[in-house]
Amino acid sequence: MSPTRHRPLSPDEKGRLVAAAHEAKERAVAPYSKFRVGAALLCDGGRIVTGCNVESASYGLTVCAERTAVFKALSDGIGGFRAVAVATDADTPTPPCGACRQVMWDQCRDIEVVMSAGGTVLHRRLSELFPQPFEFGGPPR
Ligand code: THU
Repeated sequence: MSPTRHRPLSPDEKGRLVAAAHEAKERAVAPYSKFRVGAALLCDGGRIVTGCNVESASYGLTVCAERTAVFKALSDGIGGFRAVAVATDADTPTPPCGACRQVMWDQCRDIEVVMSAGGTVLHRRLSELFPQPFEFGGPPR
């Protein structure tokens, strides 16, 4: 399937999305790494769905903030993802991990990724961060 280009974010949408990601970060459950991450997905109709990282004592079971947001939205029947913001407490913006890039590609296609940390905001298309995704020739629908 070819990458879908989504309508670009307005400054107001970007501001709301970044603020929502930082709020979600406050709810991170990260007692092991102490690395808090918040994600906010802009969905159809301007609705925002957030996620935070949730860690497990069995470390590998941890779920990242980005995947929490995507799975929350989909399981509530919400789609039409246009952009995602990712917020951390790091000194510089933190791009999503490889697993989250694949899941976002599966579900969001060429979404705009806004990364915010340390007072800096970075923008990338997902196709820039993840240029050669795994595909069966398109996800099952
Ligand atoms: N983490 C995320 O939430 N998103 C990412 O894209 C990378 C990493 C979380 C997982 C773990 O709780 C902590 O950050 C440290 O890896």
